[in-house]
Amino acid sequence: MEKFYITTPIYYPSGKFHIGTAYTTVFADTVKRYKRLKGYDTFLLTGTDEHGQKIQTVAEKEGKTPQEHVDEMAKMAQDLWKLMHIEYDYFIRTTEPRHEKAVQDIFEYFLQKGDIYKGEYEGWYCMPCETYFTETQLVDGKCPDCGREVKIMKEEAYFFNMKKYEDKLLKFYEENPDFAQPEYRKTEMINNFIKPGLEDLCVTRTTFDWGIKVRSNPKHVIYVWLDALTNYLTALGYMQEDNSLFQKYWPADLQIIGKDIARFHLIYWPIFLMALELPLPKKILVHNWIVMKDGKMSKSKGNVVYPEKLINRYGLDATRYYLLREMPISQDGLYTPEEFVERYNSDLCNDLGNLVNRTISMVNKYFEGKVPEYNGTPNEVDEEFEKFTNQQVKKVEELLEKYEMANALQELWTIISRTNKYIDETRPWELAKNNEIEKLKSSMNHLIENIRKIGIILLPFMEETAKKILKQIGVSKELQTWESLSMQNQLRNVKVIEKGEPLFMRKNMEEELEYLKN
Ligand code: MSP
Repeated sequence: MEKFYITTPIYYPSGKFHIGTAYTTVFADTVKRYKRLKGYDTFLLTGTDEHGQKIQTVAEKEGKTPQEHVDEMAKMAQDLWKLMHIEYDYFIRTTEPRHEKAVQDIFEYFLQKGDIYKGEYEGWYCMPCETYFTETQLVDGKCPDCGREVKIMKEEAYFFNMKKYEDKLLKFYEENPDFAQPEYRKTEMINNFIKPGLEDLCVTRTTFDWGIKVRSNPKHVIYVWLDALTNYLTALGYMQEDNSLFQKYWPADLQIIGKDIARFHLIYWPIFLMALELPLPKKILVHNWIVMKDGKMSKSKGNVVYPEKLINRYGLDATRYYLLREMPISQDGLYTPEEFVERYNSDLCNDLGNLVNRTISMVNKYFEGKVPEYNGTPNEVDEEFEKFTNQQVKKVEELLEKYEMANALQELWTIISRTNKYIDETRPWELAKNNEIEKLKSSMNHLIENIRKIGIILLPFMEETAKKILKQIGVSKELQTWESLSMQNQLRNVKVIEKGEPLFMRKNMEEELEYLKN
């Protein structure tokens, strides 16, 4: 069985996760489910990035130790992923001793091979904030966080020799055009960071201590990004006694990240891996952001939407559908409550829900629930309908292979609309009235066949709904596999449910907007 290793970023556990943060993980989970349906041996990794000054400061504000704080936060993350049915295979926490030890080993290895060297860090330092800033980060020459005076300070620090790997990275980019998706992200890296000259990266800090200590010089803690990026390796047992998962799954097949952390994953990460002499991930997928009408989601703006708010009222599947449907990879996706309710009513209730409901009641009415087989001479309408569906199914699959989830859903909905239209074209009620039984059989059979295909394609996106659909139409397990998408006219002894529960209940826009306002 071919393996497929997918990762999400590990999250800073500094507060509750909003729908933007949940997006990456829902996306990754959907890819995993799709690949598994296609027969891959999948491994999905997620987790929490638990070190660094930010965490220390948040914990202090809450009157907790950083460890107490990250323990609570990791649990919160795990509870949310459970609620969202994220089927991760491992949840890594960077405070795990095995990770900490491996990061120390990696640091010492880089040191010994000369990729990390000891030097001096110089920058603008804000005493009360205990933070260094670069010249450009200062606001009117003062600390950008607290507005107080800053002064030039120097201290001993370790640096990673990025320059050494610059050419190698460029060559790698050139030889692997599929490494970054969308490709323009790579061009951005080259133009914005590599061409102007890569700076060596300061990889230790001494201004706080909530981090992994450098083993050979413990007054330094390791820079949080060097610590965090290596989670993708250490979670699999890299530099540990049992590294069987690492042997099996590395290199990663797909690493999904948001645009704000592209530089770390497209420049530093490949360089660290080159320095470790390890194969590089096959693909890094950079997605854009979910934004609000007034820009970025932020607590201070008071415009944050939490996934629980949507899930509690509309269900998990509607929430997953909206997130995946609304975000084309290379554009920001706008969240509005109006759009959310509109999609719920129109896409899920009307298009999908009604199709399933209408069809099931017709099969019950005309054939006592037994899906008829048909053997009549093929007619033009049915032939065209089959052809269209098969082409669309292929299109959806091609888009899924490129991880274009929003477009794949859009194309799937074209099948749903076309199937609704087929009911109007074949007018089963008239066929029944006129006793055109062969045509009526064919119409019902084709409808159930399409609903079966729609159900299968929906499995990775919204499993609960997909399973309900497949159960309501009564098809056997063999007709629920991805391969069975290419089968046609194979429905034998299939019996639909007598009365299918509606999949989604229509909502009143005004009431919902009232509920959804912040
Ligand atoms: N801890 C780092 C990642 C280290 S990976 C070795 C981090 N964490 S984060 O919690 O700040 O962000 C996690 C992910 O959520 C990132 O991919 C980020 O892009 C994504 N998002 C945060 N806000 C988002 C939106 N509004 N929309 C979509 N994704 C967003 O970065």
